[in-house]
Amino acid sequence: MLNSKIAGIGHYVPEKVVTNNDLTSVMDTSDEWIQERTGIKQRRYADKHKETTTTLGAAAARIAIERAGITAEDVDFIIFATLSPDYYFPGCGVLLQRELGITKTEIGALDIRNQCSGFIYGLSIADQFVKTGMYKNILLVGAEMHSMGLDFSTKGRNVTVIFGDGAGAAVIQPTEEKDKGVLTTKLHSDGTYAEKLAFISPGSHGGYHAEKLGLEDRFGFDKDIEFGEIFATQKMMDDRQLYPEMEGQFVFKLAVTKFPEVINEALTEVNLKSDAIDMLIPHQANLRISQFVAKRMGLSQDKVFNNIQKYGNTTAASIPIALCEAWEAGKIKEGDLVCLAAFGSGFTWGSALIRW
Ligand code: COA
Repeated sequence: MLNSKIAGIGHYVPEKVVTNNDLTSVMDTSDEWIQERTGIKQRRYADKHKETTTTLGAAAARIAIERAGITAEDVDFIIFATLSPDYYFPGCGVLLQRELGITKTEIGALDIRNQCSGFIYGLSIADQFVKTGMYKNILLVGAEMHSMGLDFSTKGRNVTVIFGDGAGAAVIQPTEEKDKGVLTTKLHSDGTYAEKLAFISPGSHGGYHAEKLGLEDRFGFDKDIEFGEIFATQKMMDDRQLYPEMEGQFVFKLAVTKFPEVINEALTEVNLKSDAIDMLIPHQANLRISQFVAKRMGLSQDKVFNNIQKYGNTTAASIPIALCEAWEAGKIKEGDLVCLAAFGSGFTWGSALIRW
């Protein structure tokens, strides 16, 4: 069987920089609180009339395609990971195909909704397709336009200050070099805590899960909901319930356990120890989480790449943006062992080991 490798990588972040101080003009927060708890100094917001999740993804994809030495017409499969799609349906995969001007129809487009672990799940899917010889140029994109779906009142501050917009992309191709490319991917999920970090409404749940779990007060479901209103009622809008919700401390505690666990699982699979890692690219959820994971893994700070200070948490885009910046800065060289790891909403988590 062939191995798969990342043949080209690119990233794009919107021009507009939003600092912590900028946020203090719309909600009760402070630069000190945000930096101390998360490490974030600023994030980027897209231009709401000229950019979408798809166009951010396309900008990153064009760079990845060029660096892979192919053209958009060579792409034979698209995997698009996002939690902030342009439309409820269809997904961003087909919109990206159109945006890139790919007119051939002998191509598949798949959208995946795995939030922070989306890029790793996508890489794992791409790896399987390449290994079996089904596809030769898979375009994997992680992109988010969070700024359109955040609550900018003080009620939403615990979530809103963390997230930013951006996109990253990679072209996955086969390689005949046995020890190169994706060595392994490990994927996990646990739906028990689905509502601990979630964007509940709009959706078709009609209050079912909340009632079963006794969460009506938290999510404030409208018992008089009618068919046709299942996605969102006026009451939900008035009560500002159409936004993401997060139990931060719960997520934090689980993240710092699951990151090391899933990294070690991948290392064990390929008979390596953590000192073999040349560069760890953790999903950029919180600088404190990354520092904790680095310490637990016995990795010095120069072996862990972080850029959350500049971009906040860009969910599915965070790993490919960080991977791309690390590579552009010369911090990833041929032959290096690169480890990707993520944990997020679902919960879903995963890791990948790549011999660059
Ligand atoms: N600015 C100022 N104060 C804020 C705030 C903000 N943006 N957000 C919350 N607060 C307040 C809270 O209201 C609370 O006030 P109180 O003590 O008067 O009730 C206080 O700060 C502490 O809130 P808490 O949520 O306990 O803070 P925390 O130390 O857990 O930090 C997070 C919050 C979100 C930074 C942290 O829990 C975290 O990073 N969790 C993991 C999140 C994550 O990784 N999510 C993505 C996973 S992919």
